[in-house]
Amino acid sequence: PAPTGAAAAQEHLQELQKIAEANGGNRASGTPGYQASLDYVKSKLDAAGFATTVQEFDSMGGKTFNLIAETKGGDANNVVMVGAHLDSVSDGPGINDNGTGSAAILQAALDHAAGGAQPKNKLRFAFWGAEEEGLVGSTHYVSELPQAERDKIALYLNFDMVGSPNAGYFTYDGDDSDGEGAGPGPEGSAQIEKVLNDAFGGAGVQTEGTDFDGRSDYGPFIEVGIPAGGTFTGAEGTKTPEQAQKWGGEAGQAYDSCYHSSCDTVDNVNQEAFDRNLKVINQAVASFAEQTPVS
Ligand code: PHE
Ligand code: ZN
Ligand code: ZN
Ligand code: ZN
Repeated sequence: PAPTGAAAAQEHLQELQKIAEANGGNRASGTPGYQASLDYVKSKLDAAGFATTVQEFDSMGGKTFNLIAETKGGDANNVVMVGAHLDSVSDGPGINDNGTGSAAILQAALDHAAGGAQPKNKLRFAFWGAEEEGLVGSTHYVSELPQAERDKIALYLNFDMVGSPNAGYFTYDGDDSDGEGAGPGPEGSAQIEKVLNDAFGGAGVQTEGTDFDGRSDYGPFIEVGIPAGGTFTGAEGTKTPEQAQKWGGEAGQAYDSCYHSSCDTVDNVNQEAFDRNLKVINQAVASFAEQTPVS
């Protein structure tokens, strides 16, 4: 039988790595490596019974794509969106950034479907193109969406880098608990943050907030007032001694020293961090499939 859960997610990472190797070492938007990544994800979702759509747009003078996959059932007036960018930078295969987020939400979708449960709310999974060119795919999607359709989106969950080698455990700071930086997200974002923090807490993992500073694909959603949340294990930032105490790993080193470089391969993924995030993502999807903070 085909693997499920963490084993299956690991297979997706291996596959994305192979795709990069076969296509000049990267999976950047607009390249054959991106197209192959999209084909791989789409074929899995089609086979599992999702309704998939490919949305074309222009970025950096070329054509590229978002992939959207939704459950055929569930309340179309209360849509739960879950997204990850599928493109890499051109300098490397992009396995932590963002093979991990892509593989995690792909497997959350497949496991949800395999469980046979009919979600109360409609689940819509988005695989964004051209995030690395300035959130171009997610910005295009939101800008093309009529207001009536925006109003039906109860919330947006974003996963960008969830297996960093020197991992931190961050959730987007919906309630602005630190009172600084970008401020709180739209109403409902605080409840999303709490669901994610509680899921990590149940696994004995303490989280910290990371500001809604607009560095990933939730940006266009919060800009139009859609509640959002998500998890993140850190990029070029440096782990503090306090963080190394509670999370392990190395103080004074980057969360991901291979960020945006050629060494962002399958070997760059922290299995424990990735597995913990997979579980949290699955729990959040299962929870919001039944109940959303704002509807
Ligand atoms: N969006 C950044 C990238 O893809 C990574 C990032 C995610 C940074 C979340 C901050 C917060 O390179
Ligand atoms: Zn990146
Ligand atoms: Zn990223
Ligand atoms: Zn804050």
